[in-house]
Amino acid sequence: MTDSVFTAVQSDHSYRSITTMRSVQWVERGVGGVLRIIDQRRLPQTLQYCELEDADAVVDAIRALAIRGANSIGAAGAFGFAFAVRDGLSANQASDMVAQARPTAVTLRHGVQRAFRRYVEHADWRDAVRAGQDIIRADVEECRLIGEIGARELANATTILTHCNTGILATAGIGTALGVVYTKHAQGQPVRVYATETRPLRQGLRLTTWELERQGVSVTALVDGAAPAALHRGLIDAVVVGADRIALNGDTANKIGTYGLAVAAHSNHVPFYVAAPLSAIDATAQNEHDIPIESRAGAEVLDVPGVNQQLKTWNPAFDVTPSGLISGIITPHGVLRPPFERSIADVISLAGDADAQESQVSRDPVKAGSRFVPRKAE
Ligand code: MRU
Repeated sequence: MTDSVFTAVQSDHSYRSITTMRSVQWVERGVGGVLRIIDQRRLPQTLQYCELEDADAVVDAIRALAIRGANSIGAAGAFGFAFAVRDGLSANQASDMVAQARPTAVTLRHGVQRAFRRYVEHADWRDAVRAGQDIIRADVEECRLIGEIGARELANATTILTHCNTGILATAGIGTALGVVYTKHAQGQPVRVYATETRPLRQGLRLTTWELERQGVSVTALVDGAAPAALHRGLIDAVVVGADRIALNGDTANKIGTYGLAVAAHSNHVPFYVAAPLSAIDATAQNEHDIPIESRAGAEVLDVPGVNQQLKTWNPAFDVTPSGLISGIITPHGVLRPPFERSIADVISLAGDADAQESQVSRDPVKAGSRFVPRKAE
């Protein structure tokens, strides 16, 4: 990879000072098992785990955002698929049922596909469970690498603005954008976070501030509408967000409000980074037009006493940030830089080689005829 805008980075640091909870885990029980999740609807008031025992429960939990965040629902999707085939659905029925629980995070589809591939080899539902366990293990390591690489990239950024929740709750590991923050903190780098409220469900205020305070990271909460002013005032050194789906040209879907942050960052010459594993890349999406956006119930917007509950609402869960507004994409394989068509193709090529059997990007039996063809860098 000589003439490439993609730079691979390796590291062997460890992070003993980051205390992780398990937002998603498989618990063996008798001849089967259960999927144990943190019920994120109850945070920050109550840290409550709940156990899901069948595919309906997994799909309901994903739809209701009891479990949420692209990486966490990717893992949960594999276990949901396992439950569904265990209980008699065909592999295709199980795949359709679980993968459609939420449409934007391609990690969910990839998690289901990975379970699908393992399951169809021997028609044993436990193989799909093992796929879910592998996804969790891989996510832990990938978050560690994202943190490492991001901390190096942002070594001079002390005050980081982030959106929604991309941390321990949103992943099986230390998080993506928040993984960068935790790693800087663990390394002794000075770091402060401005956490947006993240309307309408307040993942930033409820989850991100809760996580950061538990880890001893300084956090300032602000309403979404205050973020551009914070950028304009020079309070922010860098914006770092997660991703639910990245198209091959770098266009990135993330929580609604991300696009506005990117515009404001660009306008104020503040670097804007996306942090994500390669499972967030959709090799079938050329650009933003190929990314489905989840539309959610108006009741989430109208959740104020006295407000006319019949008001018309527009409540997309995500928006797409055009790649031209993105300074870099921090991945476990290095920081991808513009032009992203090139750097994304390069990293897919590299990961396809490295992860021969399990690349979630290049091997896609469910979506037969994927347009991705591994490409070697010149
Ligand atoms: O609707 P949510 O809470 O699942 O949205 C989550 C986000 O937008 C995160 O930024 C994204 O999933 C990345 S989490 C590693």
